[in-house]
Amino acid sequence: MAQDKRIVILTGAGISAESGIDTFRSAGGLWEQHKVEDVATPEGFARNPDLVLGFYDKRREALSGVKPNPAHAALARLEREFLGELLLVTQNVDDLHERGGSSQVLHMHGELKSALCMSCGVRSAWDAPMSDRPPCPVCQAPTLRPDVVWFGEMPYQMERIYAALSACDLFVSIGTSGAVYPAAGFVQEARAAGAATLELNLEPSDGTHYFAEARHGPAGELVPQWVDEVLVG
Ligand code: OAD
Repeated sequence: MAQDKRIVILTGAGISAESGIDTFRSAGGLWEQHKVEDVATPEGFARNPDLVLGFYDKRREALSGVKPNPAHAALARLEREFLGELLLVTQNVDDLHERGGSSQVLHMHGELKSALCMSCGVRSAWDAPMSDRPPCPVCQAPTLRPDVVWFGEMPYQMERIYAALSACDLFVSIGTSGAVYPAAGFVQEARAAGAATLELNLEPSDGTHYFAEARHGPAGELVPQWVDEVLVG
């Protein structure tokens, strides 16, 4: 990979699995422990806000007990050392890319450490519980919700992501099952633009056949190896 190229990377829950964060769809994963429609839809929130706020409070609290792993660190190294253009898009709402050293991370599904005020619409950095209905730091209304994109809602910054996909030379998908659109369709956008495509995942994802190359194994091993290859170039 020449160093003047453009790379778009998409990460999913699998990149944080070795840090101890539950993925969604594996056995024992989050969607076996909870019903998606209860904790990850606007309708679920309207029905039972206490349940939803408590669910995300727990996930936010759990972040303090986990650490970034070598896959996060390798992507941070890529950001520092790659001479071309890099866009790191994550579906993850954890902060492990940032704590691993990446400074430019596009959280398309939002972030646990952000609050969205349903009154004024402002997103504020947030690192406390929401179950006790704290006031919005901007308008003071007690109407904060997790700044997490739920099913039926529009992910963040899609225009910017599609623009980057249509102009990239390489698209790399890391640790995602390819089960949730629009992210699952990024590989086809990149292919249509003539980009090379690479999957790095523990096992073949739902969309593995769309990728020109797929490598299967733990992200903590595959990602540092791949970053070495790119930087040696
Ligand atoms: P999933 O739980 O659907 O998929 C995680 C993927 O990571 C699976 O394909 C695993 O095989 C793989 N994996 C597990 N451990 C790994 C490891 N150590 N190294 C590499 N890969 C590993 O999670 P996502 O694809 O991120 O959205 O899920 C996508 C979206 O669905 C999430 O952002 C969330 C969820 O519902 C919303 O809540 C809107």
